[in-house]
Amino acid sequence: MKPELYVSNTPEEAAKAVAEVILQKAKEKNKQSLPLNMAVSGGNTPVLLFSMLATEYAEKIPWHIVRIFWVDERCVPPVHPDSNFGKAFDLLLQKVPIHDANIFRIQGEADPETAAKLYLQIVESQLPQKNNLPLFDLILLGMGDDGHTASIFPDSMSLLNVANAVAVSTHPASGQKRITLTGQVINSAADVLFLVTGGSKAPVLHDIFTSSGDYRHYPATFIHAANRPAVFFTDRDAMGESSQI
Ligand code: 6PG
Repeated sequence: MKPELYVSNTPEEAAKAVAEVILQKAKEKNKQSLPLNMAVSGGNTPVLLFSMLATEYAEKIPWHIVRIFWVDERCVPPVHPDSNFGKAFDLLLQKVPIHDANIFRIQGEADPETAAKLYLQIVESQLPQKNNLPLFDLILLGMGDDGHTASIFPDSMSLLNVANAVAVSTHPASGQKRITLTGQVINSAADVLFLVTGGSKAPVLHDIFTSSGDYRHYPATFIHAANRPAVFFTDRDAMGESSQI
C-alpha cells in the first residue's frame, strides 16, 4: 500500500498535525469508553511532539484513557540519555495525568533477551490480539536517514516478517543492542503514523514515495496499518527539491 503524505512548512507544524491525530483518536476512544493503546518511538524527531503534547495538548487529551507503549528501546537504563522511555518521561509523561499503570516501558536495563521476553509478555497480556498478534490502536514511527524504522534496520529486514511481536536488534553502526516491535505487529495496528522531518531524510523519502532507487532496501517502505496505508507527516525540508512526489 502506497503511504499517504502530509507536508507541513515546518517541523513544528508537522508535529502539531500528528498531535491533532492523537487528540482525535483519543477523543474517539474516550467516547466509546475504550482505552487508546499507543506505541511511540524514540530518537530526536518526537521531541517537538512530546513537548507539544505536554503543553498545548495537556488539557485537551483525555490522558486517563491513554495506555502508552514503546515501538523500540535502546538496551540502556531508563536514566541513560539514550533511553527512549527516559526521553518520553522527561518531556511528556511526568507532565500529564497519565496513570503510572498505563505506562508500559521496555526494561532496557535488563539483558536484551530477557528484556525482549518481558516486553513480549507485556504486549501479549495488555493488548487485544488477532492472528496471535497484539493489536495497537496507534503506532508513531520515525525513520532514520538509512530508511530504518523502529529498530528494524536495512541489514535486519527479516524482522519485518518474523512471527514474534518483539525482537532483539543491533544498531548497524554503533552495535548498540535494541528491543523492537517487529514488522507484523506494526502492520497490524489500526493506524500507523510516521513523523519524519529534516533534509537528511529527503533522499530516502523520495525513493519510498516514487518507488525508485534503493526503496526496496528500506524497512520503512514495507510499513502500513492493518487496513490502510501508513501516513507520513513531514516538512518541506524532508521533501527536498522534489516537493512533487
Ligand atoms: C530510535 C527510534 C528510531 C527513530 C529513527 C529516527 O529508537 O531511535 O525509534 O526508529 O525513529 O532512528 O530518529 P530521529 O528522529 O532521531 O531522526
